Amino acid sequence: MTVLVIGACNIDIIGKSHETLLNSESNIGEVSISLGGVAKNMATNLFYLGADVSFLTLIGSDNFAKMQKSELDMIGIDYSHSLKRDVTSSTYLAVHDKNADLNVAINDMKNIEGLLPEDFSPLEEVIESFDALVFDTNLSEVTLCYLIERYKHKKIYVDGVSQSKVIRLRKVLPYIDLLKINQYELNALLKIDNCDIIFGVKQLLDKGLKNCIVSHSDEPITYNLNKEIYQSETNKKENILSTMGAGDALISGAIYYLVQGKNMREAVNFGKVVADKTLEVYEACNKDIKKLIHL
Ligand SMILES: Nc1ncnc2c1ncn2[C@@H]1O[C@H](COP(=O)(O)OP(=O)(O)OP(=O)(O)O)[C@@H](O)[C@H]1O
Ligand SMILES: [Mg+2]
Repeated sequence: MTVLVIGACNIDIIGKSHETLLNSESNIGEVSISLGGVAKNMATNLFYLGADVSFLTLIGSDNFAKMQKSELDMIGIDYSHSLKRDVTSSTYLAVHDKNADLNVAINDMKNIEGLLPEDFSPLEEVIESFDALVFDTNLSEVTLCYLIERYKHKKIYVDGVSQSKVIRLRKVLPYIDLLKINQYELNALLKIDNCDIIFGVKQLLDKGLKNCIVSHSDEPITYNLNKEIYQSETNKKENILSTMGAGDALISGAIYYLVQGKNMREAVNFGKVVADKTLEVYEACNKDIKKLIHL
């Protein structure tokens, strides 16, 4: 099965303070620039796993776009169908405290959110040529809903990304074969504070969603196999370097198995192994997941 991942590829600029963060002050620390975006992480993971995958994103025209292209070239993934526009790159700027916890962040994704359904019209033949489509929720609601409905005859897999963006999917849940969300995204989607996860998954299935995975850090992963709901314990891990990208890895592993015709239980179990591997590195994607395909 051929897979096309559609969504964001950001420039992540992360500053980490050496000492306790002081507001209104220039804190001494480290600043790193890397390539991020949930869609880019899913595309990279699927590529490392050996899937037949391409990536469709927005490539701007600023200096960050040069970095974006050279990083994607280095990964080796095909992104040749991406939309090229004379705009600035999507950027995520975050300040972390000395324990690497997020203090404050600004995400500037106006240009990918500004893409309209007609921007994708010239790509109809290309998109049609893939068997499965994977989305993050960084496109605008109008564009995301248009694409999901337009290509509902294909396998559609979606990551919820965040509480504020997952709600863009409310109208198209019946066309989605797999939605991966975390507890907070579940609450937002159903407009319920502290939603019971099993109740929540049942609600989403009642709304027509075909399959759902809900993660909650080191708590059990909840998923469905047909109409039955199951939970799978996460592995207790020591020496976690960073949890960044763990959710993206979980859905990537699950998709990799689903496109091979495996069931949801097998998909979640493999997703969990890919997520665990991602906890072992600072980056959002771990190249070593390549070794997992021989398991
Ligand atoms: N602290 C942890 N200990 C053990 N496993 C973890 C931990 N954090 C994440 N995981 C693994 O990664 C999976 C996904 O993590 P999480 O629930 O944090 O996803 P997420 O909120 O979508 O994260 P993100 O969007 O930042 O990638 C979990 O189901 C679990 O298997
Ligand atoms: Mg996530």
